[in-house]
Amino acid sequence: MPADRINNPFAPVASPESIPGGKLVQGREEIVVAVQELTRKFGQFTAVDGINFTIKRGEIIGFLGPNGAGKTTTIKMLTGLLRPTAGEISILGYDLRRELRQIKKHIGYMSQKFSLYPLLTAEENVEFFAGISGLSTSAIKHKKQELSRLLTPSLLPLKVADLPPGIKQKVALFTCLLTDPEIIFLDEPTSGVDPEMRRNFWSLIYELKTKGKTLLVSTHNLDEAEYADRLLIIHQGKIILDGPLAQLLQQKGASTIEELFKQAIINHETS
Ligand SMILES: Nc1ncnc2c1ncn2[C@@H]1O[C@H](COP(=O)(O)OP(=O)(O)OP(=O)(O)O)[C@@H](O)[C@H]1O
Ligand SMILES: [Mg+2]
Repeated sequence: MPADRINNPFAPVASPESIPGGKLVQGREEIVVAVQELTRKFGQFTAVDGINFTIKRGEIIGFLGPNGAGKTTTIKMLTGLLRPTAGEISILGYDLRRELRQIKKHIGYMSQKFSLYPLLTAEENVEFFAGISGLSTSAIKHKKQELSRLLTPSLLPLKVADLPPGIKQKVALFTCLLTDPEIIFLDEPTSGVDPEMRRNFWSLIYELKTKGKTLLVSTHNLDEAEYADRLLIIHQGKIILDGPLAQLLQQKGASTIEELFKQAIINHETS
């Protein structure tokens, strides 16, 4: 992030030329995503209601909330797929409204709705997505080799539709990482996946963290909360809790995530 915007991501944006290649000042406290008063309405209904949060480089954010809370709507706005009704989004110091093209070079997105072509094999999907992402022929070859190490040989000839759910998610994550993005948005990547595969999937997420990546992972499974560095809990379009699980439990005097969650929802609905 440009040095003058580390502590104030909403400072006036310098011209993109002054941010060579979008390469930004390193630092433990570097804010890579900043969201201010972000709002999305669908007609009269407010799906995301003036939310504020920041994400630091290298954090794994658990974006938790029940069905219909506003997770996907928020992620779609963060990835430029949905226009906010109001509010600001800054990613790596770029203003999303004006500099989406720059932002897209640095972000990966795995959608909640299954994004692979079910009638193609995993390798054909990788070939297709790598092609449209502009990877060179040799890079595509390299990625296909990587994929063949990720899957057992018996799975390679299968169409994606015939792969087990946990493997499908792994392949979807693999395709989302083809361009080696710095910031990765995963929308309910573990839904429909059994607990063991879920843990397995989270170990892939940790691996990405060790490579310096920043991740926002949405889920409505409370048992996944403990995996994240920090939680953002959303309910009825509002962020009702923001912090590391241990800190939130202590602050709110709750002993489990379920208790914490229930208490926060009741407080929100009665306030
Ligand atoms: N295109 C749309 N038009 C109208 N309402 C919408 C639209 N997209 C989302 N909504 C509504 O906005 C609210 C938030 O939806 P969203 O998909 O963001 O929730 P979510 O937290 O991702 O839920 P889930 O866990 O079910 O995926 C819901 O009430 C949903 O019905
Ligand atoms: Mg959703």
